[in-house]
Amino acid sequence: MDDEGIEKLIRQDLLDFSGYAASKSPEILKPEIKGPVEGIIKLDANENPYGCSVRVNRALADYQGINIYPDSGQRELRKQLQEYTGVAAEHIVASAGSDQLIDLILRLFVNPGDEVINCVPTFAMFQFFTKLNWGTLVEVPRDEEYHIDIAAVKAAITNNTKLIFLATPNNPTGTITPREDVLEVIEIGLPVVIDEAYFEFSGETVAPFVGNYKNLMVLRTFSKWAGLAGLRIGYGMFPQKIVEYLIRIKEPYCVNVAALVAVRETLKDKDILMDRVKTVNDERERLYYRLKEIGWLKPYPSKANFILCSVLKFGAKELQRKLEERGILVRYFDQPLLRDSIRISIGKPQENDILIEILKELEEDSNG
Ligand SMILES: Cc1ncc(COP(=O)(O)O)c(C=O)c1O
Repeated sequence: MDDEGIEKLIRQDLLDFSGYAASKSPEILKPEIKGPVEGIIKLDANENPYGCSVRVNRALADYQGINIYPDSGQRELRKQLQEYTGVAAEHIVASAGSDQLIDLILRLFVNPGDEVINCVPTFAMFQFFTKLNWGTLVEVPRDEEYHIDIAAVKAAITNNTKLIFLATPNNPTGTITPREDVLEVIEIGLPVVIDEAYFEFSGETVAPFVGNYKNLMVLRTFSKWAGLAGLRIGYGMFPQKIVEYLIRIKEPYCVNVAALVAVRETLKDKDILMDRVKTVNDERERLYYRLKEIGWLKPYPSKANFILCSVLKFGAKELQRKLEERGILVRYFDQPLLRDSIRISIGKPQENDILIEILKELEEDSNG
């Protein structure tokens, strides 16, 4: 069989599926960057610039159980998460990153053609997994400052609506949705996913309401505040009925043993990690004001570990390239509702200083 023959057998709706524009690993950039790869300042994927707790590295170096499958019921892990979140273990399911739960939730609820409401611009994986799971995406645009429009969300609901996604703080805009607004969306009564990947930075959550509503699902991750992005560990808090089904449909060993060790050790070092979160938050505020001083950037207020900026000179793609050449990675967007924008993850203070210096140099170069 030739390539064409194979393509005829592939799901036809996937032939033009564009995939996810993932962040670049520093090692693949070697040829494009002037300086050493080790010097790259990676501000493109909202990772933790301080890394994980040292306890995680030590415990993994000594760990002897890699040849044994993890507990598919996640019992120890769920107990630890109960202690961390204050939500009972029976309401919790963990996964290989919260991305995997987004997929599982869609698989659980969506039949081909069912509608999924998405408050755009937002995290691209909601759209990615909706399409992959035969859902029909219904996009409800946010306003000019990227706040959600609840009246428009309600107006978008039809008999085919199955799910509503809402990230708060939202990625890539950093916008928070106030608790009363989140509750109003939950009160609509349809299954609602509140994605709180950046909860530790914002301090705002609806997790305490999980037991009160049969339709509320709250997602969290260890990728951001705990620096475990590379180990892929996230979790969600759900009504018990939904937990029953998620446990049934998940891949049995979706959370690997290294991630289990990492969570256990991370939670012992919670205070140190939360001090780092506070440093990132302080840096975010400092960077926001430094960015504001640059006339051709419009930064948006953020409650997460990144800042979105509209780019009024160069164009976002060109700016991203100029920064990449100089060893600084940021994310750019140029799509409807997110024209000429870059998202800058908060780095260490000295990294943020270098970024500002380079942005100022770029300005001088273009003036002179
Ligand atoms: C809003 C949001 N949800 C979920 C995720 C995915 O996190 P994880 O690494 O746990 O899959 C991200 C990562 O960037 C995110 O921004």
